[in-house]
Amino acid sequence: MYFAILWKHTHISMEELRYLQPTSFRTYNEQIVFFDTEYPQRIEQLAGIVKRWTILNYNELKPELENCPIIGVHDAKHGQQLKKHFGIKRFKLLDLLRSDREIKKKGKEILVFQTKEGQSYGLVTGYQNIKRYEVIDFGKPARSMKVGMMPAKLTHIMINIWLTYTAIDTMSNIYDPFCGLGTTVLMANALGYHAIGSDIQPEHAQKNINRRKKQGHCEDKHSEDAAIQNNINKLATCNLQLCTKKNMYIFQHDVTKPFTEPKLQNAPLIVTEWRLGPMVTQKTDSTQIAEYSRQVEELYSAFLTSIHAYYQKTQLPTIVITIPYYIKQENIIAEHMDKQATKLWRESKIIKEIYSRPKQYVGRQIMILTAKT
Ligand SMILES: C[S@@+](CC[C@H](N)C(=O)[O-])C[C@H]1O[C@@H](n2cnc3c(N)ncnc32)[C@H](O)[C@@H]1O
Repeated sequence: MYFAILWKHTHISMEELRYLQPTSFRTYNEQIVFFDTEYPQRIEQLAGIVKRWTILNYNELKPELENCPIIGVHDAKHGQQLKKHFGIKRFKLLDLLRSDREIKKKGKEILVFQTKEGQSYGLVTGYQNIKRYEVIDFGKPARSMKVGMMPAKLTHIMINIWLTYTAIDTMSNIYDPFCGLGTTVLMANALGYHAIGSDIQPEHAQKNINRRKKQGHCEDKHSEDAAIQNNINKLATCNLQLCTKKNMYIFQHDVTKPFTEPKLQNAPLIVTEWRLGPMVTQKTDSTQIAEYSRQVEELYSAFLTSIHAYYQKTQLPTIVITIPYYIKQENIIAEHMDKQATKLWRESKIIKEIYSRPKQYVGRQIMILTAKT
């Protein structure tokens, strides 16, 4: 039996968790879930899972704690109890949603669960990989897990959600038709996929990708290339390792026009977003916001129609996109998109309010569309 601590946006972590095809699924409380899975190795790649690993009973925990100098717990009572029973020198109180350097380095983190069967213990051995996002997001500080959860993480989650709906083979491409600075393309490459990006202004992504390559954030795990080996020390400080065996291809395209690029064949699709703004704050008046909503709707509607025509030809199954919402305003974009999508696609699902910037009064929702077959 495994457990996972979900990210603060529990509904998006739950959607991502489906990639493990969990069985015997049980929620313990809002943030913690228990499950079994035939794919435990996949849990490593879930970005919306903060901490994870196995559930043990008292006897199974005992050998795990032999010679352990310090344990991390979430309740002092449990700390006292475990210290006494297992002869541990010290315990430290931890936050469920953060990792702790000292415990990660020298000790063990243990969650104590009261279940119907009695007391059981969750031994944490897996933590989410914040460094990966830090690098893609231009080194934004990641002092804590909460701070590190920026859009590159969101992109990673969207790729995982897309994997849940798609029978993936590793030769597939991931495509972002609003690629902007190239976050999706870089993330997809780092995860080992061929990646394609297009944008009405593709030069930003191209420049950014070239820069990353030059900075030496680039390793081919299968290559003997000495130049690449020289970069390993630099790479040790970050976890983004671009994969030189996988292509990153950028081209110019306006999404309202037909999708004809031959390289798009066999490219399932993931989009981060068209745009969230222009900046909407407390001071933006409602007529202006209505105008922004109208512009977003108009572009997305045209996009949905042109991408649908392309999907009918290629029979690709699913797309995952973000759509904006303006905080404290009516959710008209989501409603409009949903109406439009149900005409064209077999199924549409919106995961609400996954990421927001309250000061800018703007947030993102994720929309998952499944093609009609
Ligand atoms: C918010 S940015 C996307 C950012 C991107 N997700 C990233 O992480 O860098 C939106 C992008 O949509 C592009 N865009 C706007 N209208 C477009 C259109 N009609 N066709 C294609 N791209 C368009 C813009 O040039 C911009 O780069």
